[in-house]
Amino acid sequence: MDVRITTLSENTANYGFLGEWGLSILVEADGVQVLMDTGLNLSAAYNAQVMRLDLSTIDRIVLSHGHADHTGGLCEVLRLTGAVEIIAHPDIWVDKFTRRSEGNERKISIPFSQKELEDLGARFNLTREPIRITGNIMTTGEIPMITDYEEIDSHLFIREGDEFKPDPLADDLALVIDTEFGLVVILGCAHRGMVNTLRHAQTLTGRERVYAVIGGTHLIGASEERLERTIADLREMDIQRLGVSHCTGFPASARLAQEFADTFFLNNAGSRMALP
Ligand SMILES: [Fe+2]
Ligand SMILES: [Fe+2]
Repeated sequence: MDVRITTLSENTANYGFLGEWGLSILVEADGVQVLMDTGLNLSAAYNAQVMRLDLSTIDRIVLSHGHADHTGGLCEVLRLTGAVEIIAHPDIWVDKFTRRSEGNERKISIPFSQKELEDLGARFNLTREPIRITGNIMTTGEIPMITDYEEIDSHLFIREGDEFKPDPLADDLALVIDTEFGLVVILGCAHRGMVNTLRHAQTLTGRERVYAVIGGTHLIGASEERLERTIADLREMDIQRLGVSHCTGFPASARLAQEFADTFFLNNAGSRMALP
């Protein structure tokens, strides 16, 4: 199977493209076009036009979770796609915040109402379960947290009434493409853990071999121990292409670049690749 992966929005950009904090990745495989996330604002739609990509032929949008830097481009993108199904977890609509200290909260929810998006053609398919888009492409659904070293960023909260509570990020999901050369896993932010996500993809598909991992790993701010153990687990999985983006952060990206010199790359806005 041919898999083409095009990054429409990322924090940093290749020549001629807009960089914007967030992520949006277009996957073309198995006869369909699936857009994972839409970036923070204008960049996904703008960069698609730079690449002369016609988003009106997109078959599905998948939202990796309900943070604005993955969903804020929805209006701009929907104007290009027209009516389209959007697969996501129901908790994308929970009020979400970052909170560095008490009184220092910033709302980072989806910046639109469901109705606004439906008026632009969105048809939401909200489920906690994995969704099979084609015979070989599926979403993970809710990701079990099984490793003992991956945890959710302690600055992320939800608000219930007047109270802020840690966000379990149950809505965090990934996209999995099951190919003859192994699994290709597209991560949004991997808030529930990069390795947890990969293990879940293996369990769901019954396939051991992970060929490529592309996207946000949320290793930004990871402890030395977490980074070490992530590297050990990735090494054991023998991943052939490791393209990190967005919330990986500079120290972890630099470290992964050193550890996986032959397989590592920075996956920026404007990156296009054909696998294998
Ligand atoms: Fe996020
Ligand atoms: Fe993010």
